[in-house]
Amino acid sequence: MMCLLKYWLLFLVLVLVAFADCKSRYNRHEIRKIPDGILFGTATASYQVEGAWDEDGKSENIWDRLTHSKPCPVKNCDTGDIADDSYHQYERDVEMMRELGLDFYRFSLSWSRILPTSFPDKINKKGVQYYNNLIDEMLKYNIQPMVTLYHWDLPQKLQDMGGWTNPHVVDWFTDYARIVFELFGDRVKYWFTINEPREVCYEGYGGANFAPAYNLSGYGDYMCAKNLLVAHAKAYHMYKNEFSRTQGGTVGIAASASWFEPKSEKDAEAAEDARQFEWGLYTNPIFSKNGDFPQVVKDRVAAKSFEQGFFRSRLPEFTPEEVELVKGSSDFLGINHYTSKITYRNASITTFPSPSFYDDIEALYDYDFTWETAASSWLKVVPWGFYKLLTKLRTDYDNPPIYITENGFSTRGGLEDDSRIAYYRQYIDAMLDAIDEGSDVRAYTAWSLMDNFEWRQGYTERFGLYEVDYEDPKRTRTARKSAYVYKEIIRSRQLDYHYEPDTTLPITIDDGQ
Ligand SMILES: *[C@@H]1O[C@H](CO)[C@@H](O)[C@H](O)[C@H]1NC(C)=O
Ligand SMILES: *[C@@H]1O[C@H](CO)[C@@H](O)[C@H](O)[C@H]1NC(C)=O
Repeated sequence: MMCLLKYWLLFLVLVLVAFADCKSRYNRHEIRKIPDGILFGTATASYQVEGAWDEDGKSENIWDRLTHSKPCPVKNCDTGDIADDSYHQYERDVEMMRELGLDFYRFSLSWSRILPTSFPDKINKKGVQYYNNLIDEMLKYNIQPMVTLYHWDLPQKLQDMGGWTNPHVVDWFTDYARIVFELFGDRVKYWFTINEPREVCYEGYGGANFAPAYNLSGYGDYMCAKNLLVAHAKAYHMYKNEFSRTQGGTVGIAASASWFEPKSEKDAEAAEDARQFEWGLYTNPIFSKNGDFPQVVKDRVAAKSFEQGFFRSRLPEFTPEEVELVKGSSDFLGINHYTSKITYRNASITTFPSPSFYDDIEALYDYDFTWETAASSWLKVVPWGFYKLLTKLRTDYDNPPIYITENGFSTRGGLEDDSRIAYYRQYIDAMLDAIDEGSDVRAYTAWSLMDNFEWRQGYTERFGLYEVDYEDPKRTRTARKSAYVYKEIIRSRQLDYHYEPDTTLPITIDDGQ
């Protein structure tokens, strides 16, 4: 009996030690200083916040088409028709940026609002005026605009011609980029060509989750990937050759990248394959030393394609000229990071149709049941995955300048959002760990400034530092507790797990203007 008790005590001590050890990694700094020079901001995207979907000459885009289709494919039949009404409320949006004390705000442009025909033959003055108003209002208060040219809302007309699967999209996108640089480049110094190529190509063309919901896994996604990368690179070089000297801005891309952790040692290869297919497909051609699609992706898709009876790989090849064009075509690497997945391989489990993108990867995903989940089922809280991702990007791509272009947590609403606060603190802490080890992170962006249209989930998943009241025609915005905490992180340039804001006081503007 005594002996059993002793073992129990020993066991208890071990559990406590293990627990303390795993807590300490992210709570070890009472107050942690944030290195000088890192910019802090928040982000949104045009379709998710603007509303005014058919106002002032804007034409239909692929998200208008999808959300208006029957039966409605979005939770609660929500649409972005009105969204946060930012088209009319940009002044309030900038006021919130001032309340938070942001260094920058990242937003995207609606292609079909600026070019209703999709092409440069007709520029919509009123649409341009909206973005001029927003940019000028931000600059009045020294908030830098960071502008994404494409955040998923392709003009429907271009989709009718195949969208990102049509190689002509390279010209369409470059022409649009030229107009945008000409219109706004005197004031905008940070450009992102395309937001989350993986979501554009896989979720839109490979799967059926996002517009245009082509559901052509293993073909459409790869065609899109190639065209998108060439379009990005052409726009990048156009800026460098024709605008850089007079405008002096910087241009990059914003890729989504989850961390894929092997389930066990023998799954290391499966996890690496997942990383290369899921984001290496888009980052390797730009940021690796040799460029081109990752070797493992090229080899796997080619081998499977021949086995399946194709005459050529389903993954289109870059010409040698295209490899050179795309290689190095970014001044920095933008990373949208939210979560991690456990990855493993088991040939006796056949879940995916063949051919398909996931059949090509030959990996299976899982979550650790101990991971906390956000309102979005895919969003598990795994701060160390962020650290591992940043470490890998640093080593694989020779330490490129990194902008964290999105990071955030969803709830079902409510102003007391302690789980969001915990998420931000732990993820920023993990980012600081990577910075301490040499990662060249230059900006951090919280997703999102306010609640907004969360794609197929409509307004059921809330990512905002500010809550938006969708029952109210005015779409009133109210600061959540996390807004106060983020503001204090930016103001003090430090991370203090014990800081408790007084949310009974209004959030105030402290920019002295
Ligand atoms: C997508 O296509 C597959 C066949 O490849 C089919 O089984 C599936 O139901 C389709 N999904 C949607 C949402 O259309
Ligand atoms: C693979 O999955 C099968 C079926 O679920 C299971 O019986 C087997 O143990 C798994 N193999 C490995 C190596 O995990």
